Amino acid sequence: MTVKAIATWKMSKDALELIKDENLDAKALLKAIEYIDDRMDIHTVGSYSIPNEKGYLQLDGAFMDSKGHVGSIIEASHISHPATVAYELSFKRQNCILAGNGADEYAKETANSYEIPVPLEGSMDNNHDTFAMIIRNDTGYNIGISSSGRANKHEGRVGDSPLVGSGYYCDEDGACAATGDGEAILKGCLSKEVVTRMSMGESVKDALLNACKRHNKRLDYQADYCLIALANDGSYSAYTSLNPFPFAILEDNEARLLVAYPDGNIREADNQFLKEYQGD
Ligand code: GLY
Repeated sequence: MTVKAIATWKMSKDALELIKDENLDAKALLKAIEYIDDRMDIHTVGSYSIPNEKGYLQLDGAFMDSKGHVGSIIEASHISHPATVAYELSFKRQNCILAGNGADEYAKETANSYEIPVPLEGSMDNNHDTFAMIIRNDTGYNIGISSSGRANKHEGRVGDSPLVGSGYYCDEDGACAATGDGEAILKGCLSKEVVTRMSMGESVKDALLNACKRHNKRLDYQADYCLIALANDGSYSAYTSLNPFPFAILEDNEARLLVAYPDGNIREADNQFLKEYQGD
Protein backbone atom coordinates (compact mmCIF):
# COMPACT_ATOMS: atom_id res chain seq x y z
CA MET A 1 0.00 0.00 0.00
CA THR A 2 1.66 3.20 -1.07
CA VAL A 3 0.43 6.73 -0.97
CA LYS A 4 0.70 8.58 -4.28
CA ALA A 5 -0.77 11.92 -3.25
CA ILE A 6 -1.43 14.02 -0.17
CA ALA A 7 -3.19 17.36 0.16
CA THR A 8 -4.33 19.89 2.76
CA TRP A 9 -7.69 20.35 4.45
CA LYS A 10 -11.04 18.66 4.14
CA MET A 11 -11.67 19.98 0.64
CA SER A 12 -8.69 18.00 -0.58
CA LYS A 13 -10.60 14.73 -0.48
CA ASP A 14 -12.88 16.04 -3.25
CA ALA A 15 -9.86 17.20 -5.23
CA LEU A 16 -8.20 13.78 -4.95
CA GLU A 17 -11.45 12.03 -5.91
CA LEU A 18 -11.45 14.12 -9.07
CA ILE A 19 -8.07 12.84 -10.25
CA LYS A 20 -7.80 9.44 -8.60
CA ASP A 21 -8.17 7.45 -11.81
CA GLU A 22 -5.91 9.69 -13.87
CA ASN A 23 -2.25 9.51 -14.63
CA LEU A 24 -0.85 11.35 -11.61
CA ASP A 25 1.23 13.95 -13.37
CA ALA A 26 1.47 17.74 -13.26
CA LYS A 27 -1.61 18.03 -15.45
CA ALA A 28 -3.73 16.12 -12.94
CA LEU A 29 -2.25 18.12 -10.08
CA LEU A 30 -3.18 21.42 -11.74
CA LYS A 31 -6.65 20.15 -12.61
CA ALA A 32 -7.25 19.37 -8.92
CA ILE A 33 -5.98 22.78 -7.83
CA GLU A 34 -8.03 24.65 -10.43
CA TYR A 35 -11.10 22.77 -9.24
CA ILE A 36 -10.52 24.07 -5.70
CA ASP A 37 -9.73 27.61 -6.97
CA ASP A 38 -13.06 27.73 -8.80
CA ARG A 39 -15.33 26.39 -6.07
CA MET A 40 -17.75 29.11 -5.05
CA ASP A 41 -18.41 27.45 -1.70
CA ILE A 42 -14.74 27.58 -0.66
CA HIS A 43 -13.75 30.85 1.00
CA THR A 44 -10.30 30.02 2.31
CA VAL A 45 -8.50 29.80 -1.02
CA GLY A 46 -9.13 30.70 -4.64
CA SER A 47 -11.36 33.14 -6.47
CA TYR A 48 -14.01 33.30 -3.76
CA SER A 49 -11.71 33.71 -0.78
CA ILE A 50 -11.27 36.60 1.63
CA PRO A 51 -9.60 39.71 0.21
CA ASN A 52 -6.85 41.82 1.77
CA GLU A 53 -7.52 44.79 4.05
CA LYS A 54 -8.18 46.99 1.01
CA GLY A 55 -10.89 44.65 -0.23
CA TYR A 56 -9.22 42.97 -3.20
CA LEU A 57 -7.70 39.54 -3.65
CA GLN A 58 -3.95 39.01 -3.75
CA LEU A 59 -3.39 35.36 -4.63
CA ASP A 60 -0.27 33.20 -4.48
CA GLY A 61 0.53 30.07 -6.45
CA ALA A 62 3.50 27.79 -6.80
CA PHE A 63 4.73 24.69 -8.55
CA MET A 64 7.81 22.56 -7.99
CA ASP A 65 8.97 19.16 -9.15
CA SER A 66 11.84 17.04 -7.96
CA LYS A 67 13.81 17.76 -11.12
CA GLY A 68 14.24 21.28 -9.77
CA HIS A 69 11.63 23.18 -11.76
CA VAL A 70 10.28 25.98 -9.59
CA GLY A 71 7.77 28.66 -10.45
CA SER A 72 5.73 31.00 -8.34
CA ILE A 73 3.21 33.78 -8.45
CA ILE A 74 3.19 36.26 -5.60
CA GLU A 75 0.26 38.53 -4.74
CA ALA A 76 -1.49 38.53 -8.11
CA SER A 77 -4.91 40.14 -8.35
CA HIS A 78 -5.99 39.02 -11.81
CA ILE A 79 -4.97 35.38 -11.99
CA SER A 80 -7.64 32.90 -11.08
CA HIS A 81 -5.33 29.85 -11.31
CA PRO A 82 -1.99 30.98 -9.92
CA ALA A 83 -0.56 27.45 -9.63
CA THR A 84 -1.14 26.88 -13.35
CA VAL A 85 0.72 30.06 -14.25
CA ALA A 86 3.46 29.11 -11.76
CA TYR A 87 3.77 25.76 -13.55
CA GLU A 88 4.35 27.56 -16.87
CA LEU A 89 6.96 29.79 -15.24
CA SER A 90 8.74 26.82 -13.68
CA PHE A 91 10.25 25.88 -17.04
CA LYS A 92 11.93 29.26 -17.46
CA ARG A 93 15.56 29.77 -16.58
CA GLN A 94 14.92 33.40 -15.74
CA ASN A 95 11.78 35.14 -14.53
CA CYS A 96 10.36 32.02 -12.89
CA ILE A 97 8.94 33.99 -9.97
CA LEU A 98 6.68 36.94 -10.71
CA ALA A 99 4.94 39.26 -8.26
CA GLY A 100 2.09 41.77 -8.32
CA ASN A 101 1.49 43.71 -11.52
CA GLY A 102 4.25 41.85 -13.34
CA ALA A 103 2.54 38.55 -12.63
CA ASP A 104 -0.86 39.89 -13.70
CA GLU A 105 0.58 41.33 -16.91
CA TYR A 106 2.38 38.08 -17.72
CA ALA A 107 -0.80 36.08 -17.32
CA LYS A 108 -2.75 38.56 -19.39
CA GLU A 109 -0.27 38.29 -22.24
CA THR A 110 0.37 34.57 -22.18
CA ALA A 111 -2.00 32.47 -20.15
CA ASN A 112 -5.60 31.55 -20.71
CA SER A 113 -6.28 31.61 -16.99
CA TYR A 114 -6.52 35.40 -16.81
CA GLU A 115 -9.73 36.41 -15.13
CA ILE A 116 -10.63 38.88 -12.45
CA PRO A 117 -11.44 36.97 -9.29
CA VAL A 118 -14.52 38.10 -7.43
CA PRO A 119 -13.64 39.15 -3.89
CA LEU A 120 -16.02 38.07 -1.20
CA GLU A 121 -18.08 40.84 0.39
CA GLY A 122 -17.36 41.60 4.04
CA SER A 123 -14.47 40.72 6.23
CA MET A 124 -15.13 37.33 7.77
CA ASP A 125 -12.09 35.51 9.08
CA ASN A 126 -10.94 32.30 7.53
CA ASN A 127 -9.28 29.66 9.62
CA HIS A 128 -6.63 28.74 7.08
CA ASP A 129 -5.55 29.76 3.67
CA THR A 130 -3.68 27.33 1.50
CA PHE A 131 -4.48 24.39 -0.68
CA ALA A 132 -1.32 22.34 -1.16
CA MET A 133 -1.08 19.05 -3.02
CA ILE A 134 1.88 16.71 -3.48
CA ILE A 135 1.82 13.85 -5.96
CA ARG A 136 4.43 11.16 -6.50
CA ASN A 137 4.88 9.23 -9.74
CA ASP A 138 7.65 7.37 -11.55
CA THR A 139 9.50 10.58 -12.33
CA GLY A 140 9.43 11.93 -8.78
CA TYR A 141 7.37 14.54 -6.97
CA ASN A 142 5.17 17.41 -8.12
CA ILE A 143 3.89 20.02 -5.70
CA GLY A 144 1.21 22.62 -6.40
CA ILE A 145 0.10 25.44 -4.13
CA SER A 146 -2.78 27.90 -4.26
CA SER A 147 -3.21 30.44 -1.49
CA SER A 148 -5.04 33.64 -0.75
CA GLY A 149 -2.81 34.24 2.25
CA ARG A 150 -4.08 35.45 5.56
CA ALA A 151 -7.62 36.90 5.50
CA ASN A 152 -7.65 40.71 5.64
CA LYS A 153 -3.88 40.78 5.27
CA HIS A 154 -1.91 43.97 4.76
CA GLU A 155 -1.79 44.95 1.10
CA GLY A 156 1.39 43.44 -0.35
CA ARG A 157 1.98 41.05 2.55
CA VAL A 158 3.84 37.91 1.49
CA GLY A 159 3.48 34.60 3.33
CA ASP A 160 5.16 31.24 2.98
CA SER A 161 3.08 29.82 0.12
CA PRO A 162 4.91 31.28 -2.89
CA LEU A 163 8.36 30.93 -1.28
CA VAL A 164 10.33 27.85 -2.26
CA GLY A 165 11.77 26.12 0.79
CA SER A 166 9.15 27.62 3.09
CA GLY A 167 5.70 26.80 1.69
CA TYR A 168 6.90 23.88 -0.41
CA TYR A 169 9.98 21.90 -1.34
CA CYS A 170 10.82 18.59 -2.99
CA ASP A 171 13.86 16.82 -4.35
CA GLU A 172 14.76 13.21 -5.03
CA ASP A 173 14.50 12.36 -1.31
CA GLY A 174 11.04 13.62 -0.43
CA ALA A 175 8.45 16.38 -0.58
CA CYS A 176 6.82 18.71 1.93
CA ALA A 177 4.28 21.55 1.80
CA ALA A 178 2.81 23.91 4.38
CA THR A 179 -0.37 25.73 5.32
CA GLY A 180 -1.32 28.08 8.13
CA ASP A 181 0.57 30.97 9.74
CA GLY A 182 2.81 31.96 6.84
CA GLU A 183 5.11 34.23 8.82
CA ALA A 184 5.84 31.44 11.30
CA ILE A 185 6.44 28.89 8.54
CA LEU A 186 8.79 31.05 6.49
CA LYS A 187 10.91 31.98 9.51
CA GLY A 188 11.96 28.31 9.67
CA CYS A 189 12.12 27.51 5.91
CA LEU A 190 10.18 24.52 7.14
CA SER A 191 9.50 22.57 3.94
CA LYS A 192 13.18 22.49 3.04
CA GLU A 193 14.13 21.66 6.61
CA VAL A 194 11.82 18.63 6.60
CA VAL A 195 13.11 17.29 3.27
CA THR A 196 16.72 17.81 4.34
CA ARG A 197 16.03 15.70 7.40
CA MET A 198 14.50 13.01 5.19
CA SER A 199 17.63 13.11 3.02
CA MET A 200 19.66 12.47 6.13
CA GLY A 201 17.67 9.34 6.91
CA GLU A 202 14.88 10.49 9.22
CA SER A 203 11.48 8.93 8.61
CA VAL A 204 8.86 11.29 7.21
CA LYS A 205 7.13 11.44 10.59
CA ASP A 206 10.33 12.12 12.54
CA ALA A 207 11.47 14.71 10.01
CA LEU A 208 8.23 16.66 10.49
CA LEU A 209 8.19 16.36 14.27
CA ASN A 210 11.88 17.15 14.75
CA ALA A 211 11.90 20.10 12.34
CA CYS A 212 8.80 21.64 13.91
CA LYS A 213 9.79 20.94 17.51
CA ARG A 214 13.10 22.70 16.95
CA HIS A 215 11.42 25.58 15.13
CA ASN A 216 8.71 26.02 17.78
CA LYS A 217 11.38 26.39 20.46
CA ARG A 218 12.93 29.27 18.54
CA LEU A 219 9.64 31.13 17.99
CA ASP A 220 8.72 33.25 20.98
CA TYR A 221 4.98 32.70 20.37
CA GLN A 222 2.64 29.80 19.63
CA ALA A 223 1.99 29.68 15.89
CA ASP A 224 -0.83 27.82 14.17
CA TYR A 225 0.53 25.96 11.15
CA CYS A 226 0.50 22.52 9.52
CA LEU A 227 2.67 20.51 7.13
CA ILE A 228 2.19 17.48 4.89
CA ALA A 229 4.99 15.30 3.55
CA LEU A 230 5.57 12.27 1.33
CA ALA A 231 8.57 9.93 1.19
CA ASN A 232 10.03 7.69 -1.50
CA ASP A 233 8.82 4.47 0.13
CA GLY A 234 5.21 5.67 -0.15
CA SER A 235 5.01 6.67 3.49
CA TYR A 236 3.44 9.99 4.43
CA SER A 237 2.80 12.10 7.50
CA ALA A 238 1.30 15.39 8.59
CA TYR A 239 2.05 17.79 11.43
CA THR A 240 -0.12 20.35 13.17
CA SER A 241 1.15 22.74 15.80
CA LEU A 242 -2.11 23.63 17.56
CA ASN A 243 -5.39 22.40 16.09
CA PRO A 244 -6.74 19.21 14.51
CA PHE A 245 -5.76 19.33 10.85
CA PRO A 246 -7.73 17.41 8.21
CA PHE A 247 -5.81 16.28 5.15
CA ALA A 248 -6.40 13.66 2.47
CA ILE A 249 -4.28 10.95 0.92
CA LEU A 250 -4.65 8.88 -2.21
CA GLU A 251 -3.84 5.29 -1.35
CA ASP A 252 -4.38 2.56 -3.92
CA ASN A 253 -6.72 4.84 -5.89
CA GLU A 254 -8.83 5.55 -2.85
CA ALA A 255 -9.07 9.05 -1.39
CA ARG A 256 -9.18 9.02 2.42
CA LEU A 257 -9.71 11.90 4.78
CA LEU A 258 -7.46 11.81 7.87
CA VAL A 259 -6.87 14.15 10.78
CA ALA A 260 -3.52 15.05 12.32
CA TYR A 261 -3.55 16.08 15.98
CA PRO A 262 -1.05 18.22 17.89
CA ASP A 263 -0.02 15.20 19.99
CA GLY A 264 1.38 13.58 16.82
CA ASN A 265 -1.46 11.12 16.27
CA ILE A 266 -3.14 10.70 12.89
CA ARG A 267 -6.61 9.19 12.72
CA GLU A 268 -9.35 8.64 10.15
CA ALA A 269 -11.82 11.58 10.04
CA ASP A 270 -14.84 10.06 11.79
CA ASN A 271 -18.43 11.27 11.90
CA GLN A 272 -17.86 13.10 15.16
CA PHE A 273 -14.99 15.05 13.65
CA LEU A 274 -16.94 15.84 10.50
CA LYS A 275 -19.90 17.04 12.58
CA GLU A 276 -17.78 19.44 14.58
CA TYR A 277 -15.38 20.67 11.91
CA GLN A 278 -16.40 24.04 10.47
CA GLY A 279 -13.68 24.69 7.88
CA ASP A 280 -13.28 23.99 4.17
N1 GLY B 1 0.16 29.99 4.50
C1 GLY B 1 -0.20 31.02 3.65
C2 GLY B 1 0.07 32.35 4.15
O1 GLY B 1 0.20 32.58 5.35
O2 GLY B 1 0.15 33.26 3.35
